[in-house]
Order: sequence, then C-alpha cells, then structure tokens
Amino acid sequence: MNRADFGVIGLAVMGQNLVLNVEGRGFTVAVYNRTAERTQRFIKEHGIGKKIVPAYSLEEFVGTLSRPRKILLMVKAGAPTDAVLDQLFPLLNKGDIVMDGGNSHYEETERRLTSAEERGLCYLGVGVSGGESGALHGPSIMAGGKAEGYKEVEGILTKIAAQGPQGPCCAYFGPGSSGHYVKVIHNGIEYAIMEAIAEAYDLMKRGLGMTPDEMADVFEAWNAGELGGYLFEITERILRHPDSETGKALVESILDTAKQKGTGKWSTQSALDLGTPSPTVAMAVFARALSGLKEERVAAEKILPGPPGPVEQFPASHKAFVQDLHGAVTLTVLTAYAQGLRQLRDASVERGYNLDLAEAARVWMAGCIIRAKLLVPIEKAFREQPDLPLLLLAEPFLSLWKEHHPALRKVLIQAHEHGIPVPVMSSALDFVDGYRTGRLPANLLQAQRDFFGAHTYQRIDREGTFHTEWEEA
Ligand SMILES: NC(=O)c1ccc[n+]([C@@H]2O[C@H](COP(=O)([O-])OP(=O)(O)OC[C@H]3O[C@@H](n4cnc5c(N)ncnc54)[C@H](OP(=O)(O)O)[C@@H]3O)[C@@H](O)[C@H]2O)c1
Repeated sequence: MNRADFGVIGLAVMGQNLVLNVEGRGFTVAVYNRTAERTQRFIKEHGIGKKIVPAYSLEEFVGTLSRPRKILLMVKAGAPTDAVLDQLFPLLNKGDIVMDGGNSHYEETERRLTSAEERGLCYLGVGVSGGESGALHGPSIMAGGKAEGYKEVEGILTKIAAQGPQGPCCAYFGPGSSGHYVKVIHNGIEYAIMEAIAEAYDLMKRGLGMTPDEMADVFEAWNAGELGGYLFEITERILRHPDSETGKALVESILDTAKQKGTGKWSTQSALDLGTPSPTVAMAVFARALSGLKEERVAAEKILPGPPGPVEQFPASHKAFVQDLHGAVTLTVLTAYAQGLRQLRDASVERGYNLDLAEAARVWMAGCIIRAKLLVPIEKAFREQPDLPLLLLAEPFLSLWKEHHPALRKVLIQAHEHGIPVPVMSSALDFVDGYRTGRLPANLLQAQRDFFGAHTYQRIDREGTFHTEWEEA
C-alpha cells in the first residue's frame, strides 16, 4: 500500500484548504475529522481524483501515514486540541511529528510539547496566518519546537508557504512555543493596524464628511505607496462594496462592535507579564472592548457632552488633512511593528526562544494578514542590526519619523478638538514621545511610592537606595 506523506486532522475551513495546498504540491495527504460527514463531504466535493486518503478513525488515519508520521492538527484551539491529542499520542511511535497549526495559547503549547517529548514524539507549535485563501494558496508559517522535528517537515512546509520577496514565508523560530508566540505578536500588530485604519476612516468620515467612495480612493492611493499592504487593500475594497439591500456602502450597515478574544488579547496580556511597553497594541484591544459597550455608548452620547458644533468641519482643506493623515497612519503602523518586534525581543530573552527578528519580518512579507511593503526595509534593518532596540532608531524609519511626526501631532490636535477618539494613533505618539524623553516624571512616582509605602528610591547624583521620612519634612 502506498502510504501518505502527510496527515491533516480537522477539516473545517483551514484544514480543508491546507490539505488541497499540500496535495497540490505533489504529496499524498491522509485526512481525518471527528465528524465523519465532514470528511465525506470534503472528499465528494474536492477529493475525487486527488491523492487524498480519507480515514474514519484515528487508528486508520495513523495506519495510512509513512514513518516518521507528519501530522498537522487544524482543530479548534483549547480543549478540542487536547481532546484530539489525548487520543492521538498513544497511537504514535517515537520520532513521529505532530504539528499544531491552530491558534493555541503558547503556554498550552509548552505543556503539550512536554507531554509529547515524554513519549519520544516531536511536537511543533506552528502559527499559520492568512485565513482561508492563505491556507489554499500559501500561508505565512511560524514554527517552533524541536529542531529535529522541524527538519523532517521543513521541505513540505516551505513548499506550501506563501512565496515572498525574500523566499518562502516559513521559518523555524526556536525551541518551545516560539512559533505560536510569534503568531500571537503578529495578531497583536494586526489589531493595531486595523484600528489605525478604522480611526483614519472615522476622521475622514466624521471630520471631513467624506463618502465611502472618496475614502476608498484615499486607501487605494495609500496602498499604492510605501504603506501598501493587505489591510489597506481590503479596506479599499470594503468601502466600495455596495449593500444589495440599501444600495449604499455595506460597511455603513454593519454594527459597530468588534470582538477582542484570542491572540490579539494574549499579545497584550503577555506584554503586561513581560513589563514591555506595547501600549499601541493594547489600545487596539481596549478600543474593541469599548466598541462592545454599544448600549452604554448610545445612552452616554445623550449625556456626556463633547466639543460644540457639528463634527464634519475640520478647518484644514481635505487635501491637506488627508496628507497629514497619511503621515499619522504611517507612523502609527510603524510604531505597531516597532512595539511588536520589541516585545518579541523581550519575550525571546525571558522565554529562551533565541528569536531572529529579521526572520519574523521576512515570514510576514506574504501570505499573512499584516503583509506589507514596509516589512522589506524592516527585515533589512534587523538583518543589519539584530539587537536593534527599537525599529524607529534605524533608517529609513528614523527619517519617516522626522518627516511625519508634525503631521501626527496635527491630526491628533484636530481629533481631540473635535472629540473623535483616536486611541491607537494617540498611544503611538505618546509612546514615541516617552521613548525619546531622557527624563520622564517617574522620579515623582518613585517619591510617591516611598512616601506611602517606604518603597525607597534611587538618586541621580549618587549610587544607593534611599528612603525619606516625608511626613516629618
Ligand atoms: N479561520 C481562520 O482564518 C484561521 C486562521 C489561522 C488559524 N486558525 C486556527 O486554525 C484552527 C482551525 O480553524 P478553522 O477555522 O478551520 O476551524 P475551527 O472552527 O476553529 O475548528 C473546527 C474544527 O475543529 C474540530 N473540533 C472541534 N471540537 C473538537 C473536538 N472536541 N474534538 C475533535 N475535533 C474537534 C471540528 O471537528 P467537527 O467537524 O467534528 O466539529 C473541525 O474540524 C483553529 O485553531 C483556528 O484558531 C484559523
């Protein structure tokens, strides 16, 4: 019997498309799904004449795979992943490779990795980004875990990955949960860029009174320039999409609440644990949380006053404001990348990942949601200076900061004067202003802590730890 080269467990949208992608590269793929009907439907609709081998029990599935077995899990993250692994592990042999391609929490990956290694199995936490289309045509793949295990699957993973300007968007990041952690940070950056775009849309709509089509023209122009990337491209397309019921832009009929569960939230939770400043990503998570308070917001709109007068009246000309907005969004997007990569650097030290930040930028260049032209110079910056503390310190980003920070300030003044919330853009400016301030007011914080809690403080003029009896003074 000809055995399958690769196995996929989980035939929902991601699993199905990855199976077709792997098979399309010339491999025979065994497939299994908990619910047999889903497997039957998949084979009937997509599997006829293809090198896809359906299995209706895990025993049968395991039996069809060549050794060492290479198995990719694409099932719901959390308890479902454990449920599958509990059944799968006892059926495998030493050296078999199990890849979790789901959005698993990195701490869960660590636990599963330990349990797999106790059985002599190679476990890899594999972040996969790109949604349905990426899974089929080439996702961005961020792998971590046992290096020997990765070597066995590297050939297949690099073949199915998106092909970017710097090679296949697939990389091994290091031991443990490094792959899933890099995916978490990818999603944190994604949250921040999406919110920055949403804030730009709100400013153009409520500040300038622009129509969806006019705004689409702006995003189209931005996408054609240095800011170009998938999220700008889809924003243009969304703004042009009509609602078949109203004839107006569909986006204007969509409820204004967004969920903030999962990887974006984990990115901020981890930043808090590490004590690393990633406020721009955090504000994007909190902006979604605030959006969820729909009823309260509708009620508060009638109670809490803002600046007087109708909003659609920014004093600057449309053209001048949109030009400044471009600068503001450019710096906000760059700050999101800068914070995300800085968080990867801190997590790498804390969690022993030994991450290559240039590789992170490289695998994000194609296939994933945050793919963008800016990632090409970002990769170059980290190749040339792997220990770069913050992206904005390197060229061409330093020059972009110098060119655009007056525009970011102007946009924020307009937004604040007119009461239009811009949490992500504001936090980007506050972060960089804080980062470039040699003396922050934390001296007063130290004094306050020493006053009420005798927490002690350091001085700027001599070494040592000091305490003052503040009340006596
Ligand atoms: N959708 C995306 O764009 C995207 C992008 C990147 C990563 N991911 C991640 O990729 C994974 C798959 O995503 P998805 O959207 O294709 O599917 P999903 O909706 O997250 O999961 C559905 C799959 O999980 C299986 N499943 C659920 N509970 C199970 C259990 N207790 N035991 C065994 N199997 C169980 C389902 O089997 P049944 O058919 O039997 O219910 C089905 O195959 C997830 O971890 C997701 O977070 C998704």
